Amino acid sequence: METESGVPTPAPREKFAPEEAAPVREPQFWEIRYKNKDTGWDLGAAAPPLAEFFTKNNSSRPPARVLVPGCGRGHDALFLAKLGFDVVAVDFTNQALAALRHLRRNLWIPPEKCKTARADVLHLPARFHASFDLIVEETCFCAIDPTLRDLYVAMARDVLVPGGRIVALLYPFREGTEGPPFPMTEREVESRFGRDFEIEHCEIPGNSVEKRRGEERLFVMRRRGEPVVKA
Ligand SMILES: C[S@@+](CC[C@H](N)C(=O)[O-])C[C@H]1O[C@@H](n2cnc3c(N)ncnc32)[C@H](O)[C@@H]1O
Repeated sequence: METESGVPTPAPREKFAPEEAAPVREPQFWEIRYKNKDTGWDLGAAAPPLAEFFTKNNSSRPPARVLVPGCGRGHDALFLAKLGFDVVAVDFTNQALAALRHLRRNLWIPPEKCKTARADVLHLPARFHASFDLIVEETCFCAIDPTLRDLYVAMARDVLVPGGRIVALLYPFREGTEGPPFPMTEREVESRFGRDFEIEHCEIPGNSVEKRRGEERLFVMRRRGEPVVKA
């Protein structure tokens, strides 16, 4: 179409640009949110319930190998690396991982203490199989299309050694289906994870950030199966 002056007018903008219309399971959905600084989940630091858990808890100590799925800008991953864990932080957006690497440099954390991998957490490389003692997660499970949640559980089972644990700060526990963040219930978490994981602990943290207060749960789940005893 042209105006009277002969200057072409741009085609009317669609309500959503193609990348904004990408489904939540695609990296583009998240890339556009990083590009638009629409990242309200980002606390700018490790989540207080996770920070407290790892500062006080003796059962999960460095130098355990930790996977942080859907790591975003990496505040939890870098916090764990600073505590001495060997961390692999996974996300499928370039902007999240670039931000993590920038923060890692600023914090003087050696890259080998907090490695990054650009991958879909539901389809991790075979080399991740049985490679981790811990999974630490915050607002990744709720970012996954709910119809794919069983794939997430299967991933957790696959990458952990028998006896390995998930320490998950899950959110939001409320009614509804709209997301992300996609809501969940305690019963759903227990039933999805319960076959492969023993639920060791579930609490409503007292130190959630204000906007999540009462809607978070800190779960600790142990992968079933006996740990392999090294000779
Ligand atoms: C709500 S944000 C949480 C980020 C971070 N855990 C935090 O709490 O700051 C979800 C993150 O998971 C990533 N993500 C979502 N689905 C993913 C998938 N299937 N594979 C890898 N990363 C994924 C997104 O790119 C985004 O960085």
